[in-house]
Amino acid sequence: TAASVRRVCCIGAGYVGGPTSAVMALKCPGIQFTVVDSDAGRIAAWNSAAALPIYEPGLDEVVRSQRGRNLWFSTDIDAAVAAADIVLLAVNTPLGPRGAGLGGATDLSAIEQCARTVARVARRPTIVVEKSTVPCGTGELIAGILRRDGRPGVGFSVLSNPEFLSEGTAVRDLLRPDRVIIGGLDGSEDAQRALASVYAHWVPQERIVTMGLWSAELAKLAANALLAQRVSSINSISAVCEAVGADIADVSRACGMDSRIGGRFLHASVGFGGSCFHKDIMGLVWLAESLGLHDVAEYWDQVLQMNSSQTARFVARIARAVGCDLDAGAEVAVLGFAYKAGTGDTRNTPAAPVCERLLAQGARLAIYDPKVPARQIRDALPAESHYHHRVRICSDAYEAVAGARAVVLLTPWPEFATLDWARVHGLMAQPAYVFDGHRALDAPALDRLGFRAVSVGVRT
Ligand code: NAD
Ligand code: UGA
Repeated sequence: TAASVRRVCCIGAGYVGGPTSAVMALKCPGIQFTVVDSDAGRIAAWNSAAALPIYEPGLDEVVRSQRGRNLWFSTDIDAAVAAADIVLLAVNTPLGPRGAGLGGATDLSAIEQCARTVARVARRPTIVVEKSTVPCGTGELIAGILRRDGRPGVGFSVLSNPEFLSEGTAVRDLLRPDRVIIGGLDGSEDAQRALASVYAHWVPQERIVTMGLWSAELAKLAANALLAQRVSSINSISAVCEAVGADIADVSRACGMDSRIGGRFLHASVGFGGSCFHKDIMGLVWLAESLGLHDVAEYWDQVLQMNSSQTARFVARIARAVGCDLDAGAEVAVLGFAYKAGTGDTRNTPAAPVCERLLAQGARLAIYDPKVPARQIRDALPAESHYHHRVRICSDAYEAVAGARAVVLLTPWPEFATLDWARVHGLMAQPAYVFDGHRALDAPALDRLGFRAVSVGVRT
């Protein structure tokens, strides 16, 4: 019941665990939240007065207002778990080693380790909540570990409460979620009510939806697959636009104005990135394969294939336009390296394969991203040292474009649209190309300044 939830422990102080616990703490002043992690450096950063370990708009303020009141960051996992009424699992669930077939199994070792920790230290009834994105059936796996390894007489409930936040808007998404899904096995209604009571502090009742455990687990994979599928679908149409002379922005707008289709998530781009779309579709494909549903697996696999071919096609356009100059070591200015604006996250960013392909063709790169540290950019590039000699990491956009033959925009940071493009043109080698991977720039205006502007989804 609402009154019985006094302490919540969140294992995993990453993009999900940190912001989720911080917003919960903000909205539930009567509950103590302790976020624990095995990575001591990360915990120290969450406790520091300087930079938090992740960048999210608005997060600093929330953490600063709750930290030391009802929000704690600690490496003492056992103590926090032992004291908790609810344990949220927000640890990594990466793709495991790839097998022969389509898709890929999820590596659940961190989840299993957490379940064993809860079983070992909990001395009173504890609700264990999957926040991480997990394959269907993981809840039963956790329940099995708790039954087998837990102290006799200690009751456990396992719930699935998938997280739908997007990076860059995490705080806003957590404050106003479209829905909160709480899945549970039969008999876990009390636990579902207890978790719902936490959300009820700020989420309207009608947005808190309870369902079975498998449905909740599958809903998360399905939601990400459907979102990614929209991007691949519009990107496939962008390829047609480039071939026939239609403009993808107009086609997207025309389709999105149909209220059944809706306008969001129809922006053609160089391809989707991020830690989850690829991994979660791989997981869905693997699930379908393991159920003998080969057609289903192939269907969703196509979403991934379309994404890779979109990125490859974008680089091919650059190579075609700039031509043999790339081989001769022409410099290309890469603006943006994060997989989307509003975050410093580079996991699965399309910028990595774009840069790798450009380097393989002989280009030199000058890379600038307002939020991604230089070290992180270097780590995301191929390890060959002869590549690294051809890469400059810059601290502003003008430094990156100086002397470059082409600008390649890979993250739609608002600051790129408002650059002094006449100044950029003056700094670049001529003829100066701009390749816009997100339709973030005004291509006709660039053409008027003397650029050769190339955009996704428009014929050149
Ligand atoms: P992350 O890598 O940012 O954070 C995970 C944290 O868990 C790390 O700090 C790691 O040190 C810690 N950890 C791993 N194993 C541990 C263990 N055994 N004990 C203690 N700590 C441990 O990952 P993330 O982006 O927060 O994602 C976590 C989960 O949430 C994944 O399943 C992901 O699919 C899902 N998810 C992510 C997002 C997102 O936007 N990033 C959104 C929704 C769901
Ligand atoms: C996505 C989902 O939107 C979240 O609901 C989910 O919780 C999260 O994955 C997760 O499970 O991790 P996120 O990856 O942070 O969130 O970012 P999105 O805004 O979904 O963008 C993903 C990628 O798609 C970006 O590379 C973006 O540039 C690209 N995209 C998005 C497009 O190319 N076009 C669009 O119209 C929308």
